[in-house]
Amino acid sequence: MQQIQVGVSLVGSGSARLPVFLSNEELGQVVDTSDEWIQTRTGIQQRGLLQAHGSLSDLAATAGQSALEMAAVGATEVDLIILATSTPDDLFGSAAQVQAQLGATRAVAFDLTAACSGFVFALVTAAQYMRNGVYKTVLVIGADALSRWTDWTDRRTCVLFGDGAGAVVLKASDRDRLLGFEMHSDGALNGCLNLRYQADSDPLVEGKTVQKGTYQPITMNGKEVYRFAVKRVPEVIEKALFRADLTPADIQWLVLHQANQRILDAVADRLKVPSERVVSNMARYGNTSAASIPLALDEAVRDHRIQPGDIVASAGFGAGLTWGAAIFEWG
Ligand code: ACO
Repeated sequence: MQQIQVGVSLVGSGSARLPVFLSNEELGQVVDTSDEWIQTRTGIQQRGLLQAHGSLSDLAATAGQSALEMAAVGATEVDLIILATSTPDDLFGSAAQVQAQLGATRAVAFDLTAACSGFVFALVTAAQYMRNGVYKTVLVIGADALSRWTDWTDRRTCVLFGDGAGAVVLKASDRDRLLGFEMHSDGALNGCLNLRYQADSDPLVEGKTVQKGTYQPITMNGKEVYRFAVKRVPEVIEKALFRADLTPADIQWLVLHQANQRILDAVADRLKVPSERVVSNMARYGNTSAASIPLALDEAVRDHRIQPGDIVASAGFGAGLTWGAAIFEWG
């Protein structure tokens, strides 16, 4: 009798590197800031910028292709593509364009929006389709181009964000290597971080209007988001570890959303994870939102820091507000 495979394994990772980066010094030509201020407060040195001819779906497809290659999985084997993004090329969704670009002709594809928690939420969503036996091969991509919606005159936000994409391939397996997860939302804190649609009224017929407007650039209460992150992220990781029957001492790699080095340090400190076990690449990419966890994971896998069998604690947090953690065994 054929064994039913309802476990989840993460078998490949990939990323897309942009050719154009903006340094802190260059940013100093745009707003009143300095390399010293940005590095001390955030740890960021430069960020990737999507150029006018680039698209979010190109970026996502490049990351997806590199993850498929590492996993030695053909595009036509993929059953499902989930694209975590808050900055699609098309508000109807960009995942189907990625599906077409990859030639993943059998795959159903959809977008998932949860800001900087998007990758963790997408990973957990994908796992549910696999655990119930419906899909066997899934591509989860996190891709964002927040530079599209950044106010480049606001020094409190524009220094933080960068563009990028990362991806993982999930395969059904007899042992479930997604060991535990926990996710939360609190819309009462929504005002702390917004990329909000602002509607104007457009008269249509007598007494009736339609909305006509556009999205407004990102606004953020940095101090509130910082406070939220350093309190909620260790908590959510501890809960996910509890579900996995593990403790913080079992964490071999901490792969957090790359928002701010000070947040990473505070979380690692609280969980007593030594700094050499914390994957950090925000110095080179900035905060790439849904892309940041798979980008950091992919770097650490490719330079052989993360090995098959290693226990990884990942956590995303951000707008919504949303936050979530996933504990998995790599490979
Ligand atoms: N360059 C120079 N000075 C600056 C800059 C800048 N880029 N930005 C702010 N300042 C000034 C401020 O005007 C202020 O000056 P003042 O005291 O004269 O008024 C001073 O620096 C301190 O500003 P604060 O806002 O208090 O700085 P803070 O220490 O809080 O650091 C930061 C700001 C880095 C944004 C921090 O609050 C933070 O990291 N918060 C978390 C943000 C985050 O991670 N957001 C992403 C979430 S993920 C998502 O979903 C997108």
